[in-house]
Amino acid sequence: MSLAIRKANEADLEAILTIYNQGIADRIATLESEEKDYAYMRRWFDEHQGRYAVLVAELDDDVIGWASLNRYANRCAYDGVADLSIYMERSHRGKGVGKALLEKLEEVARSHGFYKIVLFTFPFNALGQGLYKKCGYREVGVFHNQGILDGKFVDVMAMEKILMTEV
Ligand SMILES: CC(C)(COP(=O)(O)OP(=O)(O)OC[C@H]1O[C@@H](n2cnc3c(N)ncnc32)[C@H](O)[C@@H]1OP(=O)(O)O)[C@@H](O)C(=O)NCCC(=O)NCCS
Repeated sequence: MSLAIRKANEADLEAILTIYNQGIADRIATLESEEKDYAYMRRWFDEHQGRYAVLVAELDDDVIGWASLNRYANRCAYDGVADLSIYMERSHRGKGVGKALLEKLEEVARSHGFYKIVLFTFPFNALGQGLYKKCGYREVGVFHNQGILDGKFVDVMAMEKILMTEV
């Protein structure tokens, strides 16, 4: 079995979509509640060219996870800050691949001039919390009743990791 972490390409979009929809259905990863279609993912991919990279984890010939750097804010003052998404296929969670993906994405982020990664996660997402703490992300704080999922308020935790200490 060989694991590769590489830049995503258009041919990976079906697998990226399937994995994202699993994350949406599981209700542990995102405030999104409606499954996405290929056209959505295609538009998303078009916005993730250049600095806003998408990486995939490929086990043998199968894409089993993906991670992306997203635009944090439109104001140019925040051009050096990236927002993170990371999703593993259900049967491959908790096996260390998320950590490998995130470490590689941080390397890419530094090389693209990002000095910080921020993320927003549910406090009850045990695997996410395990991964982020293990990788050195700091809890910034918890927004109470930040979103509504299936008719109930949910809290959202903000976390950050400084990638470069000098400008
Ligand atoms: C969150 C997610 C990306 C993490 O990736 P992963 O491959 O499952 O995580 P890893 O196996 O690399 O785990 C990383 C660390 O978390 C910790 N961890 C592992 N299993 C854990 C568990 N059951 N509970 C708490 N912490 C755990 C460990 O410290 C582990 O590091 P180690 O194995 O070197 O000790 C993945 O589980 C996932 O896709 N979940 C659904 C979607 C999602 O929640 N995305 C994040 C949205 S914010």
